[in-house]
Amino acid sequence: MSRQGLHNKVVLGLQWGDEGKGKVIDQLAETTDVVVRCQGGANAGHTVVVGGHKTVLHLLPSGVLHPRATCIIGNGVVVEPAALIQEMDELKANGCDLSTRLKVSDRAHLVLPCHKALDAAAEKAKGAAKVGTTLRGIGPCYMDKMARTNLRAGDLLDPHFAERLRAHLTQQNHLILALGGDAVDIEGALAGLLPLCARIRPLVADTASLLHAAAAADKAMLFEGAQGVMLDVDYGTYPYVTSSNTGVGGVITGSGLSHKQLGEIIGVVKAYTTRVGGGPFPVELPDGTDAAGKLAKGEEIRQRGGEFGATTGRPRRCGWLDLVAVKFACRLNGVDSIALTKLDILDPEPELPVCIAYELDGVQIDTVPARLTDLARVKPIYEVLPGWKSSTSGVQNWSDLPLAAQAYVAFIERTTGVPVKWIGTGPGREATVVRKAAARA
Ligand code: GDP
Ligand code: IMO
Ligand code: MG
Repeated sequence: MSRQGLHNKVVLGLQWGDEGKGKVIDQLAETTDVVVRCQGGANAGHTVVVGGHKTVLHLLPSGVLHPRATCIIGNGVVVEPAALIQEMDELKANGCDLSTRLKVSDRAHLVLPCHKALDAAAEKAKGAAKVGTTLRGIGPCYMDKMARTNLRAGDLLDPHFAERLRAHLTQQNHLILALGGDAVDIEGALAGLLPLCARIRPLVADTASLLHAAAAADKAMLFEGAQGVMLDVDYGTYPYVTSSNTGVGGVITGSGLSHKQLGEIIGVVKAYTTRVGGGPFPVELPDGTDAAGKLAKGEEIRQRGGEFGATTGRPRRCGWLDLVAVKFACRLNGVDSIALTKLDILDPEPELPVCIAYELDGVQIDTVPARLTDLARVKPIYEVLPGWKSSTSGVQNWSDLPLAAQAYVAFIERTTGVPVKWIGTGPGREATVVRKAAARA
């Protein structure tokens, strides 16, 4: 069978999350019939800025602001009922009613109060070695899924759902107490949850079949990745990762469509690197200020780039562009094109070190080592490119970018072997350079 779905698109983060996927998805969704979230949950925070108004999506696909798009929360997503309802209500208050164009997979797992309590307890028990999770209950929910004990969205249709929920919370309380956490008040949790579950029930559907029908009708589909490849549970900086597969594998298992339907794989890359939470970060730059009150480089980029978590508000750690990680992510996922974001944030820099290899015990490597102890020791090897020291803010045409900015983009293309098709020059929808094939290196 030939590859179908050629007009479909997958958008993946190629770094440690927060690359600017929300903006890219919002733009692509304009010409899309169906937008699908496939993994992760309310740990994601995807920002869309339209006409100066900012919306942050956590569980809902970032295509929601386009009225023609059907929005699907696929089976690989973990769904916290309160988070979903809150997000839907907030959007409705802003004139965006999703009740008829949102579907939640009957196979999607529910994030329950026990999972959030377990997340908090596990983090506390780890002390200094904590992962720095978003505390949204994501890891414990996926654990429960893999243990084959959890409740799914389809269970909301079961007349005995309340009893099953009560039994499950009772069981999970043993685990919470064993970890030294605070047991869930079961009747209080039920009283809060059941009305929310009743509102989610009409949205529950066999989304895999809906997607198969959309594919048969040749609808244009957009698959929205959450987090980033370096947070992937298999290929990320384990154990400082999230608990899902954040690459193409997660799109397939989390949607119910086959690889033949994926179409173009678009990797989103921030023009520098950020990560939030614990774990190794080879290109990390210093934070804070020096004795004279001068901002350290990492702090300067954080403030200029507004690098504070869209979900937790935590300051993000900042560093130069790490092309070892980006190349690794491209290889793992067969990335066809790159959407480069936040180029404008680098405008004032006189020079731009780009990490092209790591040194590990005197040996140069160009891949990401699996072992944490190795990753914590690698030293980045930089090639220093000239900065452009002029504003790219809001630029829409390739020819209007300074030559040094064009050279920075071309360097990324040469090093990764992947064309850069979109360049972000500001948070708004319109602040984007869309490159025609001829303009590419
Ligand atoms: P996501 O999780 O990958 O969707 O990214 P986040 O929304 O967490 O963080 C990206 C931030 O960068 C958001 O505040 C966006 O509004 C902003 N942003 C995205 N693209 C650009 C860009 O090209 N330039 C600037 N200045 N900001 C951008
Ligand atoms: P988006 O989709 C950045 C990080 C957390 C933590 C680790 C595990 O907005 O790019 P979890 O709560 O998932 O168990 O936390 O993963 N993390 C993210 N970092 N962007 C995200 O999502 C993230 N989702 C999780 O900070 O280090
Ligand atoms: Mg984010």
